[in-house]
Amino acid sequence: AVVGVPLPHESAALHVTGTALYTDDLVMRTRDVLHAWPVQSPHAHARITALRVKPAYDVPGVVRVLTGDDVPGVNDAGVKHDEPLFPDEVMFNGHAVCWVLAETLEAARLGAAAVEVEYEPLPSLVTVREAIAAGSFQGIGRHLERGDVTDALGKAAYVFNGEFEFAGQEHFYLETHAALAQVDEYGQIFVQSSTQHPSETQEIVAHVLGLASHSVTVQCLRMGGGFGGKEMQPHGFAAIAALGATLTGRPVRLRLNRTQDLTMSGKRHGFHSRWTVGFSSDGRLLALDATITADGGWSLDLSEPVLARAMCHIDNAYEIPHVRVDGQIAKTNKTSQTAFRGFGGPQGMLVIEDILGRCAPLLGYDALELRRRNFYQPGDSTPYGQPVRHADRLESCWSQVLAAGDVERRAADIAEFNAAHSQVKRALAMTPVKFGISFNLTAFNQAGALVHVYKDGSVLINHGGTEMGQGLHTKMLQVAATTLGVPLSRVRLAPTRTDKVPNTSATAASSGADLNGAAIKNACEQIRERLAQVAGGKLGISPLDVRFADGVVRGLSGDGVDWNELVNLAYHQRVQLWAAGFYRTEGLHWDANAMRGEPFKYFAYGVAAAEVEVDGFTGSYTLRRVDIVHDVGDSLSPLIDIGQIEGGFVQGAGWLTLEDLRWDTKTGRLSTQAASTYKLPSFSEMPEVFNVTLLEKAHEEGVVYGSKAVGEPPLMLAFSVREALRQAAAAFGPPGTSVDLASPATPEAVYWALDRARGGA
Ligand code: MTE
Ligand code: MOS
Repeated sequence: AVVGVPLPHESAALHVTGTALYTDDLVMRTRDVLHAWPVQSPHAHARITALRVKPAYDVPGVVRVLTGDDVPGVNDAGVKHDEPLFPDEVMFNGHAVCWVLAETLEAARLGAAAVEVEYEPLPSLVTVREAIAAGSFQGIGRHLERGDVTDALGKAAYVFNGEFEFAGQEHFYLETHAALAQVDEYGQIFVQSSTQHPSETQEIVAHVLGLASHSVTVQCLRMGGGFGGKEMQPHGFAAIAALGATLTGRPVRLRLNRTQDLTMSGKRHGFHSRWTVGFSSDGRLLALDATITADGGWSLDLSEPVLARAMCHIDNAYEIPHVRVDGQIAKTNKTSQTAFRGFGGPQGMLVIEDILGRCAPLLGYDALELRRRNFYQPGDSTPYGQPVRHADRLESCWSQVLAAGDVERRAADIAEFNAAHSQVKRALAMTPVKFGISFNLTAFNQAGALVHVYKDGSVLINHGGTEMGQGLHTKMLQVAATTLGVPLSRVRLAPTRTDKVPNTSATAASSGADLNGAAIKNACEQIRERLAQVAGGKLGISPLDVRFADGVVRGLSGDGVDWNELVNLAYHQRVQLWAAGFYRTEGLHWDANAMRGEPFKYFAYGVAAAEVEVDGFTGSYTLRRVDIVHDVGDSLSPLIDIGQIEGGFVQGAGWLTLEDLRWDTKTGRLSTQAASTYKLPSFSEMPEVFNVTLLEKAHEEGVVYGSKAVGEPPLMLAFSVREALRQAAAAFGPPGTSVDLASPATPEAVYWALDRARGGA
């Protein structure tokens, strides 16, 4: 079998030699391309009182200025119909008012600068606290409740409360948003888009142009990273390019430069939370009462499902008998915050991990022990009523990290080190992850595939998922080769296109391989069954006894027939050699209003241990060692999975410790508009020792070849880094010091935390 074999990413060689093509690379292969440039608002909130585009036409090379008057269909780019593509009222600093198309990018830029816009500034709310104070909310608030929180808090031996506001995160995919649109002689649109959700991009483009979906085809070759940022945000950009192509008859390219991308596109939601927690005298969580507010930015986008996932993950890996969570979405004058790896899950989990980290010293427990004693046990259910199947894997991962990470000995070494050093402190923290897999919205859990076997025996597969670097295509090739029993070299994969597989879900929620893999397997099985009939006839055996492996088709014993030969024979017998596959995840149900049900097919588990060293003069730190054991079921592709775990962990560590989005609270301008001011993890921040192990004997029933999703869950293993920083800061103070740590825990934030711990300011 090809599944389970450690293979490099199918495009690895192309990636590293610079030959992999991305959307904007296709421009050089396209003639007569026009380039698009936005006119952006300098106000956080303002009414547009005048828009004069004429001066732009005086700029040589400018061909067309696109405004709201040009829209033949619906002037809206959001699925919630709250995102005017060309606004009358700008809602955030950087909001695009109109777009200029020109022969060159430079001419488009100059043309945009020549457009005259008059604004009447309106009051704005930039921070989530301002929005809460002003009662500025959007979408539907949610309530999740189990048990009797008031009663349980009354009886709890210890009750603590607190407030915690934490920051969002910029996706900073290497490839910024990009679309290239063309129109044919029928007026049909072809858009090459850097999108995680080609079907929805297609729908929005069709709405804007007033066309039926069958007149719009969207293709995604690959993305240079998406991370959730291209789940909903590409639609408007694709629509601008498509509108331009329709009006000019020429191909239109839209690619944001980094600053445009940073100032226009949505990010991970920052949250505000207020909580009360009750513990028993033996350190068991009894009750949690929390209100969490997602900072949604100017429009809804995916804020509602992000909030739902945050609420469904506030328990993380811990059994909390009595829970009451209220969730709401603030409306602020910022970019419209959106999906980002974990999709709200990390934010919900950060709340409980922060609580445990703060409370452990107050309860007199080692944080390691406090976490472990609250783990879900087999038989437990989540606050929304889903049994926590395989809860024992938390303990398996935990004890494996303890052993492989030599944690006990290192904890003793750290204590010794700290006793000997007054200005440098070390700490080791361990945190678990339990992450639900499936889209909360049941309908999204379906997928399609198209598999062709050609007369020469070569195989071409198409599926609804998109490749953003995560290795989905590699896994899909492995699934097809395994199911058909042919060598990997016989299978090729074609770009994702809406005219090949329709009505797809976003490649998101980490479910790309589960859903599309099962659809490909289904298509391949249909073909295999038909070929088994042909083989049975040829070999004189029952089709039920026919086996497909290594390019040979044979019975339980005796001679076989070569795959290519069998395919050719089947063709001549007029047997259909291609199939459309379909899959839907069974057994899911979710009541979004009651916040109850079993929305997830299964949970992914993992545990990380992180050791840090913190400098008491500056708050700067190093990540000395990380040990991870993570559950991916039976891995479809171990090298890909380990890469996902490493990458997810580092991205999580970036969110929690380095990446610091700053908005000017007066003008709403994003101050961190470039890599020079927004600090991303780089080689210098990698852990000095980084051990990643896949949990063994982790077969998952009912998922393609026993595998589990891997894309998002490892990001949340990075809580271990934040908690280690908290413990190191506490080590500067007397024993039992509880430390409040800002998020991100930048060196500056760590400095203030440790300074408070040692009785400073
Ligand atoms: N890995 C890379 N290299 N690039 C990405 O953009 N996106 C992440 C994750 N891993 C991403 C990635 C996110 S947000 C998700 S939901 C999953 O990949 C999506 O892909 P999958 O469903 O195939 O795992
Ligand atoms: Mo991932 S945030 O579900 O695209």
